[in-house]
Amino acid sequence: MKVLILGASGATGKQVVSLLIKKGINLKIVTRKSAAIPEDMRNNIMVEHIIGNIAEFDMMKNEALINACDSVVCCLGHNITFKGIFGKPRLLVYQSLKNICEAITHFSSQKIKIILMNSVACTYKDINEKRSLSERIILSVLAVLLPPQKDNVMAANYLSRTIGKSHEKIEWTAVRPDALIDNDDVSPYEVFETIKRNPIFNPGKTSRINVGHFMTELITDNELWEKWKYKMPVVYNK
Ligand SMILES: NC(=O)c1ccc[n+]([C@@H]2O[C@H](COP(=O)([O-])OP(=O)(O)OC[C@H]3O[C@@H](n4cnc5c(N)ncnc54)[C@H](OP(=O)(O)O)[C@@H]3O)[C@@H](O)[C@H]2O)c1
Repeated sequence: MKVLILGASGATGKQVVSLLIKKGINLKIVTRKSAAIPEDMRNNIMVEHIIGNIAEFDMMKNEALINACDSVVCCLGHNITFKGIFGKPRLLVYQSLKNICEAITHFSSQKIKIILMNSVACTYKDINEKRSLSERIILSVLAVLLPPQKDNVMAANYLSRTIGKSHEKIEWTAVRPDALIDNDDVSPYEVFETIKRNPIFNPGKTSRINVGHFMTELITDNELWEKWKYKMPVVYNK
């Protein structure tokens, strides 16, 4: 088993890397030259480290990335700086995900699981997820004004609408945490098919390490995968 991790240098991505190493799973990670990578990740024989900007990878580079991998975890997200939010690439997550999916479609000889880190601010349209009018208005305005919100919505829609549920080579899930917090250890958490709290007026909390834990369980536990594939599970700390 080999897992490709995009956004491995991010706060959640690092947790995913570390949890998968503990499970003894071989990894490929792609990080920018400037990314801060812990030494144990950099020098780990289980980790194949590709340096480059995923947003700029062409089809050939993406083909090499997916080669020999059976799962892809995408923890990409915009840096919370003015440049990260409003600068290019505005569709970092959507475009990188789409490029990887196209490489899988054209070149993979096996079925690949894709696990996208998404957000409760994105709606799971397949189940007619209910949102209040005020929430819908605010989320629509944010999608226009805030490029990262639009990016996350487009990435989730790409999986649910374009890839769909009968793709020959791709199975997917889009994991939706609420407000992210940092904790060192995995703690009790709950996973739901739909949002249970209003993310704007009454947000819940989700530890990044719990998101990482759920994502890594999705990779190794086939029963869990069957339960959540083609869905957008919502994760809250208990
Ligand atoms: N903040 C919240 O409360 C919240 C809630 C729910 C969902 N989310 C979503 O969760 C996701 C991950 O969150 P996080 O806090 O773990 O993210 P993060 O720590 O900001 O990590 C983002 C990752 O994306 C990479 N990245 C950023 N800009 C890039 C670019 N232009 N080109 C290539 N790579 C780039 C970063 O690489 P570098 O290390 O090189 O910068 C890093 O690996 C995001 O999509 C976010 O929208 C956030």
